[in-house]
Amino acid sequence: MTALPFLRDHGRVRSGQTVLINGASGSVGSAAVQLARHYGAHVIAVCSTGNVDRVRALGADEVIDYTREDFTRRRGAYHVVFDAVGKSAFSRCKEALTNGGIYLSTVPTLGMFVFADMLWTRLFGNKRAVLALTGLQPPGEKKKDLCFLKELAETGRIRAVIDGRYPWEDSAQTHHRVDSDTSRAPCSSRWELELRTCGYSGAMKTGGCACGAVRYALTLELTPVTFCHCSKCRRWHGHVGAYTAVDRPGLQLTEQRGLRWYAASPTVRRGFCGECGSSLLWDEEGAPKMSICAGTLDAPTGLRPKAHIYLGSKGDYYEVPEDGLLRREEFTR
Ligand SMILES: NC(=O)c1ccc[n+]([C@@H]2O[C@H](COP(=O)([O-])OP(=O)(O)OC[C@H]3O[C@@H](n4cnc5c(N)ncnc54)[C@H](OP(=O)(O)O)[C@@H]3O)[C@@H](O)[C@H]2O)c1
Repeated sequence: MTALPFLRDHGRVRSGQTVLINGASGSVGSAAVQLARHYGAHVIAVCSTGNVDRVRALGADEVIDYTREDFTRRRGAYHVVFDAVGKSAFSRCKEALTNGGIYLSTVPTLGMFVFADMLWTRLFGNKRAVLALTGLQPPGEKKKDLCFLKELAETGRIRAVIDGRYPWEDSAQTHHRVDSDTSRAPCSSRWELELRTCGYSGAMKTGGCACGAVRYALTLELTPVTFCHCSKCRRWHGHVGAYTAVDRPGLQLTEQRGLRWYAASPTVRRGFCGECGSSLLWDEEGAPKMSICAGTLDAPTGLRPKAHIYLGSKGDYYEVPEDGLLRREEFTR
């Protein structure tokens, strides 16, 4: 509801343009990345190191880690700079804009200077600075925008990225956490509260191999972990296999230069990293879900154990103590 008017009305973002989103891992920024993509722009997103994968998974064509590169140093590079967190200033970004480029900011960081920039550039410059207060839009406009976003969400063109799920009764504490906890996952529950009316919910997890040549993001619910004791899994993992699984559309490979496949049987292939050898994926032809080696997820995984399977063919060098999990000699769905 914030990013849309900025990009569509003030930035007039369109196909063929290069749009830079600063603060791309935040609530406003993550929506902006997806909307700019929706309008056909080449999207360059800026965030901190820990959020690079998440932002790439949102569809950014390029991600700049602001701890390593100052995006304002690229000259004449962006048709639109949308600073979703107000961490830059028009004066710093001006040289990075193309002729006729537009600088948008959600935050009047330097108060009067932004307003002065807006006035000055409207009168004289060929590059414009715009601050908008989207909350002040008339209710009719907001309703139209909400319906438009609902349609994009329902057709899978944008998705909510959610830090966690909280009951409505806890909304005061949740907002407090959003405002004060900088270590939380980047996209706030605020977006969830807005999009719940559209029936969307979910949490993004990330993971990858030991060397980084394969990285993935998971955007749908994960199953509890199953420990597989069969001889193939033990050979492949060096010991017991631990798998979670996700509906296939919920897996996005954000880096796959190292990904290789081993055909384990006519219907099953196993994905691994050809550079560091990490075991990553178990892919059965026709199955609705893709299995993921649980040990490759980034912490916190939020996963819980569920079952031991193929205990009948477990190794003879260890015992499986009674731990309260389901126990199956083989595996039956
Ligand atoms: N004008 C309006 O109509 C309007 C409407 C709504 C919100 N807002 C304002 O917009 C701002 C953003 O809101 P939000 O809900 O998106 O915030 P948010 O979810 O808290 O996100 C803030 C993001 O800023 C990033 N960040 C921190 N330092 C940064 C830096 N130096 N460079 C680039 N990114 C940096 C953080 O990600 P990393 O960890 O990756 O750095 C974080 O994900 C708030 O100030 C809010 O008040 C304005």
